[in-house]
Amino acid sequence: MAVKTCLMIGAGGMAGGWISRFTEKFSDRIKIVGLVDVDENILKTQGQNLGLNDKQLFTNYLDAIEDVKSDFCGIASPPQFHSPQAVAAMEKGMPVICEKPIADNLDAAKAMVRTAKKTGLPCAIIQNYRYSPNKQELVRIRDEGELGRLQHIVGRYACDYRKYGAWGRAWRHDMDFGLLFEGSVHHMDMLRFLSGGNCEVLTGFGWNPEWSSFKHYSSGMYLMKMDNDIHTLYEGNSSAAGIINCWHSEYYRAEFEEGTVEIDQGIQMRIHKAGEDTRLYDAPSEPLSGREFIFAGHDYLFHEFLNWLDGGEPSATRIEDNIQSFTMIIAAMETTLDGEPKRIADYLGDI
Ligand SMILES: NC(=O)c1ccc[n+]([C@@H]2O[C@H](COP(=O)([O-])OP(=O)(O)OC[C@H]3O[C@@H](n4cnc5c(N)ncnc54)[C@H](O)[C@@H]3O)[C@@H](O)[C@H]2O)c1
Repeated sequence: MAVKTCLMIGAGGMAGGWISRFTEKFSDRIKIVGLVDVDENILKTQGQNLGLNDKQLFTNYLDAIEDVKSDFCGIASPPQFHSPQAVAAMEKGMPVICEKPIADNLDAAKAMVRTAKKTGLPCAIIQNYRYSPNKQELVRIRDEGELGRLQHIVGRYACDYRKYGAWGRAWRHDMDFGLLFEGSVHHMDMLRFLSGGNCEVLTGFGWNPEWSSFKHYSSGMYLMKMDNDIHTLYEGNSSAAGIINCWHSEYYRAEFEEGTVEIDQGIQMRIHKAGEDTRLYDAPSEPLSGREFIFAGHDYLFHEFLNWLDGGEPSATRIEDNIQSFTMIIAAMETTLDGEPKRIADYLGDI
């Protein structure tokens, strides 16, 4: 497992979080050899922290991709830049690991899928919420049939972003369909992960309450039939004022043949069986255990991606698979606009 060199696109915000993880937890596996950011202050500060010289710092990703030879490219810039940056990196021979959402539109996302297929290079998408003990435990219960067959799953996301800017960056409040592209893409991916199926048909509604801090729809409800006959239902609300199920405490309820599983924040599992007391226990963390720490969230994805580069299994969230989660967002956007149910396969026939 030789150290892999990385061209990192993005230096602040979530990209700053990546850089901290790379240096604090993966210093024996990742070395950043080039850094890109349009913000020169962040670029300079992070460049100094990483011990990079001026020739390793770039404000233009095309210059960086041309100049820097690295084993892979990490992308944590805002969504509209993911596709051009990832395509250019793969065309130059670099595998890519990229933040969600894949892109800001379906054509751009498909360009990434096509380039990954054409070049044969690894391209993984961050879906960090899959890798927390309570989600892994729910999937284990499903796979081992501990509560019999699964019927349907309800997911709920509710953040109090009623103040402008509360969701980290102003652009999240200003963009079209911010709930779907910045938020629900995690939850649609989770409903695929927890149900074990891809979405077949999606229908629903989106809206923007009058008191919302968002320029566009901040709330929505969507109903999905998965291709394994499990049904899923999603409530998304970025203008929540009461019961909060915000990041890392989203609520999922899975209805099985012999009982119900509820999860939200932390690692507690709640198992309900009619006529019995609720069983509470902590989800085990062993399935995510790594070397000296638990590979939860982003760490798991980096670990999995590095193993893929070293000849191991492809990442579960490789773009050829994760395009399914992204397309659910496109379908949700379109059903919101025209009120018609959408079949996911209809969007993906040409890739
Ligand atoms: N997985 C998660 O839990 C999670 C959480 C937050 C954000 N994200 C994702 O991370 C990505 C970045 O979000 P953010 O909140 O950090 O955004 P941000 O606006 O803070 O941008 C991140 C960095 O990218 C830089 N940048 C902007 N345009 C660039 C360009 N063209 N080329 C290079 N760098 C550029 C910015 O200057 C900034 O330093 C988004 O795709 C977002 O959805 C993921």
